[in-house]
Amino acid sequence: MQRRALLQGAGIVALSLVGAGAWWSDREGVFSVGEGPAYEPWRNWSAEQGPLALVSAGILAANPHNTQPWRFKLADERIEIHADTARNLGTFDPYLREMHIGLGCAVENMVLAAAARGREAKVTLVDGSLEPIPAAPRPSLVAIIELAPGPRRQDELYDAIPRRHTNRAPYDRGRAIAPELLRSLHSLAGESTGLKLLLFSAESERKKLGDLMVAATETIIADQRMVDDSQRWFRQRWADVQKFRDGPTLDTAGLSPLVAALAKIAPAPSPERNHRYWLDATRDVQVPSAPVLGLIAVEALYDRAQAIRAGRAWQRMHLFATTRGLAMQPINQPVELVDRERQLAREPVAARALASLVGDPSWKPTFAFRLGYPTRDVPPSPRRAVGDVVI
Ligand SMILES: Cc1cc2nc3c(=O)[nH]c(=O)nc-3n(C[C@H](O)[C@H](O)[C@H](O)COP(=O)(O)O)c2cc1C
Repeated sequence: MQRRALLQGAGIVALSLVGAGAWWSDREGVFSVGEGPAYEPWRNWSAEQGPLALVSAGILAANPHNTQPWRFKLADERIEIHADTARNLGTFDPYLREMHIGLGCAVENMVLAAAARGREAKVTLVDGSLEPIPAAPRPSLVAIIELAPGPRRQDELYDAIPRRHTNRAPYDRGRAIAPELLRSLHSLAGESTGLKLLLFSAESERKKLGDLMVAATETIIADQRMVDDSQRWFRQRWADVQKFRDGPTLDTAGLSPLVAALAKIAPAPSPERNHRYWLDATRDVQVPSAPVLGLIAVEALYDRAQAIRAGRAWQRMHLFATTRGLAMQPINQPVELVDRERQLAREPVAARALASLVGDPSWKPTFAFRLGYPTRDVPPSPRRAVGDVVI
């Protein structure tokens, strides 16, 4: 009798634990990767008409820390793209250089969307220098797109917009990338327009840039201000993912599905631990598994228009890579450190190290990344709704 009661009791406890585990897993989105309102913009992006069709493509672009630092002002046949400078990364991006690269990524998607809808897009960039983050941040105009009737163009880059995702998982190091694909990336980068793409696949060069990426990450995680400014954007809890619809998430961290699921139900790590994981992933997975590392360089690192052009180039390259089954991920810590050293008026150690890699002082790296064949697909990152970003 007693034994039966005991077994019954144990059964009830076990069932309750399973039930509680299932409830918690459900609450933390373990079974809902890529679902919910935060991911709707990836599904309904091509349903919009007129200028909104361009905006719905623009917001799917790459952007730093998924801050989505954009606002769009619409008129007939004209869209203004504004930097939403309040959505900044603080000491991670003290001159809003990365923010402008992200805006360039959005512009590129919008130009592709215009062509696909039978509109000719004329892009005018606002000139000027990148400045420290304003004390009272407010939207500032960075680009204007004017539309006119044009031929409707089929374009594989446009079709790839909803499939392009930053892939932080391991790449297949043993699978080389054909030279013609690397040549296509060079021509897509638009190097005639004051931009230079450097791709490193030879072991010695690859190692030099990889070492810089790891060393920069180590320096950054030892800088408490940078850790805190980065952490502000992390969305560890599923409710926050769906509420804020921005920031890096556990689903996009490059973890295996099982580890991501466990991380979702575990207590959120401290900012320091979270950034130590980031260093571990950079050093042990992301850099060593990539057959190609690369840099996009510009002539003037703090020129607004050049930052936007670099972003346009990155977005095009990443879309092209997507069409060819390749994965890409920015690993921009070396250049983030260049900005931070400038902000603190420190010796430009990071800038010198990058310059020695480029070997030509007229080119300043503004964006560092890796490229390779993926070992697994990755889900999309959240996006705010079009209605939230239109002025
Ligand atoms: C200027 C810029 C810098 C970025 N730097 C990094 C980086 O250092 N590491 C990284 O994993 N992703 C980086 N990203 C990728 C963004 O985090 C990513 O685009 C964003 O989270 C949205 O996700 P998605 O590209 O998958 O749509 C960067 C993107 C841009 C545009």
